[in-house]
Formats: sequence, C-alpha cells, structure tokens
Amino acid sequence: MTLGPDIRPRRLRTTPAMRRMVSETRVHPSQLVLPMFVREGIDAPQPISSMPGVVQHTTESMRGAIVEAAGAGIGGIMLFGIPLLKDAVGSGATDENGILNVATRIAVEEAGDALLVQTDLCLDEFTDHGHCGVLSSDGRVDNDASLERYREMALAQAAAGSQLLGLSGMMDGQVAAVRDELDANGYLDTAILGYGAKYASAFYGPFRDAVDSSLQGDRRTYQQDPGNRREGLREAMLDCEQGADIVMVKPAMSYLDVLADVAAVSDIPVWAYQVSGEYSMIEAAAANGWIDRERAIDESLISIVRAGADAVLTYWAVEYARTLR
Ligand code: PBG
Repeated sequence: MTLGPDIRPRRLRTTPAMRRMVSETRVHPSQLVLPMFVREGIDAPQPISSMPGVVQHTTESMRGAIVEAAGAGIGGIMLFGIPLLKDAVGSGATDENGILNVATRIAVEEAGDALLVQTDLCLDEFTDHGHCGVLSSDGRVDNDASLERYREMALAQAAAGSQLLGLSGMMDGQVAAVRDELDANGYLDTAILGYGAKYASAFYGPFRDAVDSSLQGDRRTYQQDPGNRREGLREAMLDCEQGADIVMVKPAMSYLDVLADVAAVSDIPVWAYQVSGEYSMIEAAAANGWIDRERAIDESLISIVRAGADAVLTYWAVEYARTLR
C-alpha cells in the first residue's frame, strides 16, 4: 500500500491534450472588438509613440485595416475620431462631415456584414478642454447640457450608419437620453453600449496620446473612484434600467471583481475594455525582454473572459484572433 493523497487534481494536467479538453475558458475571435483611431487631415497613418503597433489611421488606411480585421474573423471595430479643430462644445462630433461620421460611413460600407461597426459617443476627442462633456460658466462639467450634445451626437452617428453607440462619457442619464433621441427619430435598431462602470484610471494614459487630448484637470467628477466596487454594479444596473443593450466594464484587468459582479446579475451582454495602458504595459515589458509577450496577451484576455466578459475590446484583437485559429 502506498501513502499519498486520494484526490489528485494534477491528473487533469498531465498532457496538452488533457489540458485542452478540460479547459474552462475559451475565447472565440467573434468576441473581440478592435478599437481604431481615425485622424483628420493626415495623408499617411501616424504611429502612436506610447502604443507601439497602434496607429492613427487615415480613412484610406482604415479601409485596409477593416479588410484585415474581417479576415481575422473578429466581431467588430470601435471607431474614435481625431478632428483637426477642437472647440469648447466639440462641434466636430455632430458635424456630418466631421471625421468620425465620415469614417463611420466608409467603415460601414467596407465592413458589410463581416464586422459590427461601433462608434465612441463622447466629446473628449472633440473638445479643446478635453473633457467628456461641455463646461458650465464656472468651469465644471455640466451633466445635463452634455446630454443635449450626446443626443445630437447620437443622431449624427446613427445617420452615418453606426450600429452600436459606445456611450463612454459617464454623464448621469446618458443612456436614457440617447435612447429617447434615437427612438424619436426612427433609429429603433441602433443599439447602445453603456459604459456602465467606468473608472477614473491611470491606464487611459496612452489613449490621451492616441487622440491628441489636452485634458485640463482630471475626470474624477464623472468617472468612478477605483476603490468603489458596489458603485460599479450600481452604475451598470442603471444603464440596464435605462435601456442599454450591452453594458461595459472599463478598464478590464484591474476591475475583474466589478466585471464578475456585473456578469453575475446582468441579463444583457457584458463587455470589457482592455484599455491602452493595459496594452502598453505588456508591450513595454515584452520589449524589454521582461515578459513573454504572447503568453501575457493570452493570459490577460483569458482572465477577462473568465471573469465574465462576453466580448472584449482590445488593441490586440486582430493578432490574437489569428492565434485562436
Ligand atoms: C472617452 C474614452 C476614453 C477611452 C475610451 N473612451 C478616455 C477616457 O475616458 O479618458 C480610453 C480607452 C483606452 O485607454 O484605451 N472617449
């Protein structure tokens, strides 16, 4: 008789074939969304120094990237526009000839049925002060005046053909306001992705470079305090009640508890955004030889899906999708 444990979990780890068969979490390419930046007034794609491998596209280079994304079998793209001129109210966001709306029309045509074309519905890329809304005379971000701008922006994006509006501004009541405006104008099938839980995060750092943002101050009066878990669930539930079709948790990796909380109770799809800083940290560590790049990317995305995300926005969407083949 030999001495030893009766129960041996290692039995399920003995071979690659066994490990593959008992894997609890699988990611499919269709669960991945690629965020893309399109910049006005450039004639060639511009690298983003803090996000190696990511570029600001021209509308023409965006077409090529869309063909590539469709070929990789990912689920969709999320478009961000970078206008030539920014002003206090973010006029470029509601101009039908504004860069994001122009890019959306081209993307919808190029993508056909292969990809879901989504747009960022927020003012920060378009305002000269860099905030996600408009300011009142005392310099504070005016919630209800911002909602009026979001309504106009929603109509412009829906008219351009966006299929899913990503409401990332964190103004109170934004989902209800945008749903009301869309319905009143006949855009019954334009869907809303509510960034229910969005935290005031240092991990958005590289994104500010990506959209040439000149943010004055910070976003702590509208984005959430990183310490607040219960509030993340509350915000997500408010988006559901207001008619969001999908709800988002953002950033992803530092907020997997919030993601798991929302996924446990939500009856609509729950997505997560692996943000710019999450991307750049792994790229930078890998470039230094401190981390195995491919394994780190895989583990980060597996973790986000394991925590409950039905889909993930990630700058590695196309590359990662190819590895899943
Ligand atoms: C707001 C918005 C931001 C990001 C996506 N939408 C910036 C912010 O809230 O400061 C960040 C995405 C990223 O860091 O990858 N329009």
